[in-house]
Amino acid sequence: MVIAVSFSTTAVQLQGGEAGLTNRFLGATSCSSSGCHGGGGQDQNQFLVWSLRDVHSQRPFATLTTARSRQIAAALRIKEPTADNRCTSCHAPLTEVPSAGRGEAFRVSEGVACESCHGPAEGWLRSHARPDYGHADRVFAGMRDLKNLYVRANSCVACHQTVETSLLKAGHPELVFELDGQSVSQPKHWRETAGWSGAQAWFVGQAVAVRELSWQLSGEPEPNEKLVARWSALVWLLQKLDGLDREFPALGKPPAELGSQSLLAMLKSSDELAKRAAAAPWTDKMSRQALVALAATSGDFLQAGVGGQFQARRAERLVLALDRLLVSCRSLQPNNDADASLNRLFSLVQSLPEFNASEFAEALNQFAKSLNQ
Ligand code: HEC
Ligand code: HEC
Ligand code: HEC
Repeated sequence: MVIAVSFSTTAVQLQGGEAGLTNRFLGATSCSSSGCHGGGGQDQNQFLVWSLRDVHSQRPFATLTTARSRQIAAALRIKEPTADNRCTSCHAPLTEVPSAGRGEAFRVSEGVACESCHGPAEGWLRSHARPDYGHADRVFAGMRDLKNLYVRANSCVACHQTVETSLLKAGHPELVFELDGQSVSQPKHWRETAGWSGAQAWFVGQAVAVRELSWQLSGEPEPNEKLVARWSALVWLLQKLDGLDREFPALGKPPAELGSQSLLAMLKSSDELAKRAAAAPWTDKMSRQALVALAATSGDFLQAGVGGQFQARRAERLVLALDRLLVSCRSLQPNNDADASLNRLFSLVQSLPEFNASEFAEALNQFAKSLNQ
């Protein structure tokens, strides 16, 4: 099945393809001098936060040297995970940069470093600190516009969702992309701009996740029930929020027949949705509406004819969503009852094979009630 490739950000694109092939990667040490991002103060400590506290600096590469990685690699007949691009594309992305793209201070061992997210620095390193330069000037010079949630989601999702089926079968953990929660878990070396909404980040991230799953599914040679269940769960979730803003395109129900046409249509509309939602002003009212709409879905878990695996996947996505939306709804907090019923919902999706839909539906009703208090 061949459909347009341009929507899907691959890890390789992140290595500089989109920002212009001529920009070289200069390495994190080019950012780390004490007058720049290697200082101790709040506005200059990015290098310290990343190198000391962010898992991206040390862990991704180290993971490839563990016994678990050796097991996964053995199942795939990979000799050396630290040198095979089926692993390094995410765990040691700088390995992928061809020698012509490497500056002098470049070190492959840096893991997921500044330029993996902000883009290769050659074009903007000198100019980006000029006092007369604003964010737009830096982006024009080739720095990736991570303040834009659509661009940010595309950057993170490239490594945080799509794992090939063969790797999953070999024992790689399944990845679930959720931009808001994962942004909160990454030790912040920045301050979000005014008007930042976690709910908006959540929404944009989920729309991008639908797009990526549609893309992955379209490339599967055989029916893959697990992947279909994950995909349709996410479509189900976002479709509950159709109409949240009049400007957003509606996703509609997951198509009954899965073919390249319907997946292409979903890929396009979810991409458009992500773009629009990133650009739109997001209000507290929208977060609250989304929370209330999703909390009111208990009836869907009592529907006959939806398979157990599908229900479990819906519940898994739903609980993550309720968590992020509840945190984001400032007007509702604190609400101890909602927190308690959310904990119960989390415990009910701990083990998907043992998922009990009617128990979940009842707990979801409790949660919905607690929102009205
Ligand atoms: C080039 C690939 C790459 C990019 C881009 C990337 N990450 Fe990661 N990230 C990883 C890898 C690999 C790990 C796993 C580290 C390990 O356990 O070996 C990770 C781990 C994490 C973790 C800790 C584990 C978890 O899932 O809770 C968080 C949080 C995280 N990333 C957030 C983000 C966010 C937010 C972005 C975008 C701003 C991002 N990452 C971009 C590769 C990447
Ligand atoms: C699409 C990007 C991607 C690719 C390709 C990838 N990984 Fe990962 N891997 C991740 C991320 C992200 C995590 C972190 C998951 C989390 O913590 O939620 C991870 C987690 C892991 C873990 C579990 C780490 C832990 O301690 O929990 C192992 C082991 C691992 N990867 C090994 C490999 C090996 C070996 C390969 C190659 C065969 C590989 N990965 C390919 C992104 C990737
Ligand atoms: C995993 C992805 C990731 C990595 C790695 C990363 N950053 Fe960031 N960085 C972000 C995100 C997301 C933002 C928030 C968006 C923004 O403010 O531009 C950000 C913001 C910043 C900002 C604030 C920009 C502003 O205008 O307020 C600076 C400065 C910065 N990063 C420097 C660095 C440096 C230096 C490194 C390496 C030592 C680094 N970053 C590594 C994702 C990353």
